[in-house]
Amino acid sequence: MDLRQIGAVYDRRAATYDRTVGRGERWLVGDLREAFGAALRGRVLEVAVGSGLNLPYYPATVTEAVGVDLSHGMLRQVRSAGRADVAGGVHLARMDAQRLAFRDASFDTVALSLALCTVPDPVAALREVARVCRPDGRVVLLEHVRSPVAPVAWLQQGLSPLQERLIGCHLARETVATLVAEGFSVVSERQRRLGVFRLVVARPPTASG
Ligand SMILES: C[S@@+](CC[C@H](N)C(=O)[O-])C[C@H]1O[C@@H](n2cnc3c(N)ncnc32)[C@H](O)[C@@H]1O
Repeated sequence: MDLRQIGAVYDRRAATYDRTVGRGERWLVGDLREAFGAALRGRVLEVAVGSGLNLPYYPATVTEAVGVDLSHGMLRQVRSAGRADVAGGVHLARMDAQRLAFRDASFDTVALSLALCTVPDPVAALREVARVCRPDGRVVLLEHVRSPVAPVAWLQQGLSPLQERLIGCHLARETVATLVAEGFSVVSERQRRLGVFRLVVARPPTASG
């Protein structure tokens, strides 16, 4: 799917997103959203913020928050659900993760959840994440990835084409491996559901490589 199609899918899903995700999510990710929130600090950029499901978990250590997403509909949900009142405020903008309109090294934390499965070019998005994150900052990812358990991975691979056609979501991307290949250093990693769901805290690549 291209960016226009992804934006349109999420505009259509926006009003029901929380309900449909909410049904299975607790079982799937357990407490990883809370842990995702707890890892955020300072000036935070959440890329593909969606309807803002992570915002209630932002801790007091977040001094300012910026949320960007491709879908106007999802951003409207953030406002209408009253989730934009994090201390210091949440600034929202429509933006492509692959071309972030921020200066280099402008955030203490850059975070993404359930996003790199859908962004058409995850390598381009991770390069933008690396660029806008301070060199001493952190990157926090909550993503579903290809399971290390072979039968689960086969199932993901089999179901992925349908999911990609319906909502642009790839079920079996190896996002943590891509993160490492792009030079990020993994500081901690937790997983749920046979390694499908991962919470990763990482340092951005250093300029010297
Ligand atoms: C599965 S939802 C996840 C939303 C939210 N992060 C969450 O955890 O509930 C995927 C989100 O990624 C956004 N998205 C997909 N591709 C994007 C891109 N290239 N740039 C910005 N947002 C994008 C979609 O609009 C959608 O809101």
